Amino acid sequence: MMSLRNGSRVALGLAALTMGISIAPAQSTPATPPAATPAVAAAGAAVPWAVFSGYKRYHGNCSTCHGPDGLGGTFAPALATSLKTMDHDQFLEIVVNGKANAQLAMPEFGADPNVMCYIEDIYTYLKARSDGAVPRGRPAPQPTRPADVAEAENACMGS
Ligand code: HEC
Repeated sequence: MMSLRNGSRVALGLAALTMGISIAPAQSTPATPPAATPAVAAAGAAVPWAVFSGYKRYHGNCSTCHGPDGLGGTFAPALATSLKTMDHDQFLEIVVNGKANAQLAMPEFGADPNVMCYIEDIYTYLKARSDGAVPRGRPAPQPTRPADVAEAENACMGS
């Protein structure tokens, strides 16, 4: 079955990842560590996974209307500004049910798993943008998706 195949592929991927991590320290320390690592670390720690995921999902589903980085577009308001006054429940209500004034329509996403399975990430990202906690652009360095998050996402997406 589809779900089993996908599940075992994820499990295999995770196993490979874990092995890669656990094998590395057991080997003799290389004379020169990979050059990129210290530079990346010095540039700043990775953002929490939810922020990075929210960045990706926002730009996959919302930015065509709401503009890059939550800054607003021709068709729809700047959500980084909206979240300065709008609370979590109001945000969720609009995403689930949509909203329309005379000229413009915010689609309803309540039945779209590509949005709803990641809506807390999208909220977290936009809230961080709203608070000025993350700058414009793709957050770097890229964090690693935690295993429990991967599991929850797969369960939500029904894979
Ligand atoms: C097809 C264009 C379009 C897309 C795609 C879209 N929106 Fe909207 N959205 C709008 C429009 C237009 C409004 C303003 C509606 C109004 O004021 O009646 C809006 C309003 C909103 C509001 C209320 C903002 C405020 O200040 O009142 C929120 C929250 C929101 N959208 C979230 C999202 C999220 C999250 C996504 C992605 C999952 C998304 N939207 C995708 C067009 C879009």
